[in-house]
Amino acid sequence: MKKIFAPRMSAVALLAAAGIALIPALTQAEDGARIAGQICSGCHGVHGRSESPMFPKLNAQTPEYIEAQLKGFHEHARGETAARDYMWGMAALLDEAAVKSLADYYSHQAATRGAAGDPTLMAKGQEIFEHGVPDKGVPACASCHGAQAQGAGTFPRLAGQHQEYLLRQIEVFQNGTRGNAPVMTAVAHTLSADQAKAVAAFLQSR
Ligand code: HEC
Ligand code: HEC
Repeated sequence: MKKIFAPRMSAVALLAAAGIALIPALTQAEDGARIAGQICSGCHGVHGRSESPMFPKLNAQTPEYIEAQLKGFHEHARGETAARDYMWGMAALLDEAAVKSLADYYSHQAATRGAAGDPTLMAKGQEIFEHGVPDKGVPACASCHGAQAQGAGTFPRLAGQHQEYLLRQIEVFQNGTRGNAPVMTAVAHTLSADQAKAVAAFLQSR
């Protein structure tokens, strides 16, 4: 029997704080769907379709990216405030098999779109997504994240993600606290707040 719960007080306290009771059956589960339903859904929503911009959607995210982020939380390399407050304890509960199983589960959940915003803002965002900002050295987002922002491998899916969450990530890439993101730290450093807002509005609606 593989252990999912490491005896970490902080993680247990975090679960309690989130109002989640420890269910004995979970300690035996290696099944991503079950862990997702019993723990992760409390924040990330049923099937990973989070309804709150505080919590990123996980549905249809690439498995390689999910694994890389859970590793980043576990090793405390992804260190922005929300990661520390919410995900360090969660990641400490998961063993390697559970991580793989969760990544596989979420990657197979159907994608969902978010609400469309102001058309002018979205058009500006689409321009940045497809062509970058050449005079500031910002490359086209589509060149890594895919023409439909669907993601591939360790390049995450961005389509349908909450715009507030996307904006928060651009901020933490820029201030360096999301320390496991060498690529985006380089990509995002010259993006202005207005440009970030436009591209996030565009992506949420895809
Ligand atoms: C108490 C709330 C909470 C619970 C429960 C929770 N998470 Fe999270 N999770 C968050 C928050 C908040 C973030 C965003 C952190 C940030 O903004 O930096 C996050 C981020 C993530 C990310 C990164 C997503 C991305 O797009 O980069 C992954 C992967 C993740 N969580 C997986 C899980 C899994 C798997 C579980 C269940 C074992 C889980 N989470 C349980 C709150 C939670
Ligand atoms: C050279 C490849 C590349 C380009 C170009 C690129 N990205 Fe990324 N992006 C990545 C990678 C890789 C990650 C995962 C973090 C890391 O390793 O830096 C990521 C992560 C992200 C995330 C975090 C998603 C999440 O779920 O937390 C956002 C937001 C993002 N990119 C937005 C953009 C935007 C907007 C652009 C265009 C201005 C862009 N990216 C251009 C490679 C790229």
